[in-house]
Amino acid sequence: MKVLVAYATTHGSTAEIAEFMGGVLKERDLDVTVARVGQVQSVQGYDAFVLGSPIYAGMWLTEMSQFLEKFNEELVGKPVHFWIACIRVLEADGLDAAQHEYVHKPTMEKLGVKDLGVFAGKLNLDAIDWNERWTLSARYDGKELPGSHNNDYRDWKAIRAWTTAIRDQLAPA
Ligand SMILES: Cc1cc2nc3c(=O)[nH]c(=O)nc-3n(C[C@H](O)[C@H](O)[C@H](O)COP(=O)(O)O)c2cc1C
Repeated sequence: MKVLVAYATTHGSTAEIAEFMGGVLKERDLDVTVARVGQVQSVQGYDAFVLGSPIYAGMWLTEMSQFLEKFNEELVGKPVHFWIACIRVLEADGLDAAQHEYVHKPTMEKLGVKDLGVFAGKLNLDAIDWNERWTLSARYDGKELPGSHNNDYRDWKAIRAWTTAIRDQLAPA
């Protein structure tokens, strides 16, 4: 079975999550490709998809929207697992908020996504430019100051658990 793990990213931390997921999937007899969404020319031949993006200003990245639009017909009807990385999930009501506000529900329904993965990401304020700083302070919709989440919060155990469930579904032991 051929699986495509495709990701969007701005600062690279989501790419690292995708690579890690690819490694977990490869523990079984699965033919796994990990690629940035913008570099995927064709999705022909893939039997399942694991798609992920960080959240910027309340939405997944444009490169993910473009990918979903471009390959919409090929994706529908195949197993699609979707995940997002963000900092809002670190807040008290964050998981619920992220699940409901950060994904476009009609798109999820159309793709038949049942298990949306929501993971804490990595924010490094030293690595972002002034434009991004402005976006973050003006558009972040949590209750806490985004600057209070300046760290690497990626929970590899949680990411592994979510991916393992997909691996076991696609290639039962
Ligand atoms: C300019 C900017 C805007 C962001 N907007 C949000 C947001 O609206 N909600 C949120 O939960 N996280 C937000 N984040 C946090 C990112 O989702 C998080 O840092 C992510 O892990 C970055 O992934 P990347 O390293 O792959 O680009 C934002 C980060 C930046 C730098």
